Amino acid sequence: MRVAQARADKCIADLTAKEGRAVAACSAVGDGLAERMAANGLHYGTLLEIGTYHGVGAIVLAHFADRVITVDVTPPSDRQALRDIYRWLEPDIAARICQVWVPDNAAKATLVASLHFDMAFLDGGHSEMQTALDFRITRKCGTCLFHDYPMSGSGCDGPGIVLDRASDENDGVVTTCEPFGWWRAA
Ligand SMILES: C[S@@+](CC[C@H](N)C(=O)[O-])C[C@H]1O[C@@H](n2cnc3c(N)ncnc32)[C@H](O)[C@@H]1O
Repeated sequence: MRVAQARADKCIADLTAKEGRAVAACSAVGDGLAERMAANGLHYGTLLEIGTYHGVGAIVLAHFADRVITVDVTPPSDRQALRDIYRWLEPDIAARICQVWVPDNAAKATLVASLHFDMAFLDGGHSEMQTALDFRITRKCGTCLFHDYPMSGSGCDGPGIVLDRASDENDGVVTTCEPFGWWRAA
């Protein structure tokens, strides 16, 4: 796993050297996503990410899964979408990532219901409503990693509220390592 982490870190360092640091803005990579995934110690078959943005988090996740499906409601044309930075990636990493744009939450829920995946990374909308929805539709996989736990204020306190509620209600096993939080089915 430490090899995967080192490879992911180098991949992002190379990418930001070529594209500029802005490509990783707002990404979980700056908060140690690769380190979190390495510490988790598992390599997944299919990993689902909610919230693609520029796709940098998906690149890190692709070092810890055979396939990453990353879903966003903002059209790729309105963000620097993954396909633009694919050209810098090792082909084996690029081939693992499938980027899907959906127009709204209803389409996202329909898509996710049709997918089989082993882990979910929740980093889309951060309101309580959005986070609760994403948790509801992805928890079937048994392992959800939330970014931005327990961010408060600015309408971004969803991960904190949703994970703390799960913990209070003994719903699964919650472990936190700020700014991340894991939920695992009991
Ligand atoms: C913080 S960025 C994601 C960063 C990315 N996970 C990474 O680590 O590089 C949040 C993304 O969530 C998307 N988003 C916002 N609301 C969403 C929703 N309801 N469903 C899915 N994605 C959403 C935004 O368009 C934005 O691209």
